[in-house]
Amino acid sequence: MRFLLNEEIEGYAERHTSGEPALLAELSAFTWQEMHSPQMISSRCSGRLLTSLCQIMGARFALEIGMFTGYSALSIAEGLLPEGKLITCDISSEFAKTAQGYFEQSPVGHKIDVRIQDARKTIEEITHELDFVFIDADKVSYQAYYSAVLPKVRRGGVLVVDNCLWSGKVLHPRDADSLAISEFNSFVARDERVSNVMLTVRDGLNLIIKK
Ligand SMILES: C[S@@+](CC[C@H](N)C(=O)[O-])C[C@H]1O[C@@H](n2cnc3c(N)ncnc32)[C@H](O)[C@@H]1O
Repeated sequence: MRFLLNEEIEGYAERHTSGEPALLAELSAFTWQEMHSPQMISSRCSGRLLTSLCQIMGARFALEIGMFTGYSALSIAEGLLPEGKLITCDISSEFAKTAQGYFEQSPVGHKIDVRIQDARKTIEEITHELDFVFIDADKVSYQAYYSAVLPKVRRGGVLVVDNCLWSGKVLHPRDADSLAISEFNSFVARDERVSNVMLTVRDGLNLIIKK
C-alpha cells in the first residue's frame, strides 16, 4: 500500500506504539509471506488502536465486517471485557481457515464467533445491541453496511471504518472504490446521528460515535 505519511515516519510511529502479542506478530508475518493481497491486514498501530478503544469503552459486544486472516479480530477481542463477544465475518473460507487456526491458539480466541457469509446477512443476524463495530470489507458497500448496522449500535457506541483516506485517492476520486469511500465520508460528516473524527492512522480510520 502507498503510505499517507512517509514510510520513515510510519515506521517511527509503529516502533513507538505498544508491541502486539507474539501470536499477532506471527500472524502478521505469516500473512505477509504466504497470503495474496497481504496489504489488507491491519497494521500494528491500527490493531493497537482497536484494542485500546475497546478497553477504554469497556466494550462487551462487537461486530467486525471483513475478517481476512484475523489480525483485527484478535486485536478487538483482546480489548473486550473477559465475557465479551465479537462476531466477525468473511466471504472467503480460505481466509477463515487461516484465521480460525490462529484463534484456536489465542487466549482470547474463545470470544470470537466466525460467520463465513456475506456481511449483510451477518448484520441481519445481530440481535444484541452493539458497543463496537469495525467496518473493513468491500469499499463499495460501506454505505450499506453503515446504514444497516448503525440502528444496532447503542448510544455512545463506536464504529471504526478503515481505509477512509484510500491512499489519498479520496481527494480526486475517479474509480468505484474511491468514489464510494468519498461519498461515504461526506455522508458520515453530515449524519446528525453521529459525531466523528477522521484519524490519519495508516490508510485513514474514521472514528464514529453514535449520539
Ligand atoms: C481489508 S480485508 C479485512 C482485513 C482485516 N479486517 C484485518 O485488519 O486484518 C477485507 C475482507 O473483507 C472480505 N469481504 C469482502 N466482501 C465481503 C462481504 N460482502 N462480506 C463479508 N466479507 C467480505 C474479504 O474477503 C477480505 O478478507
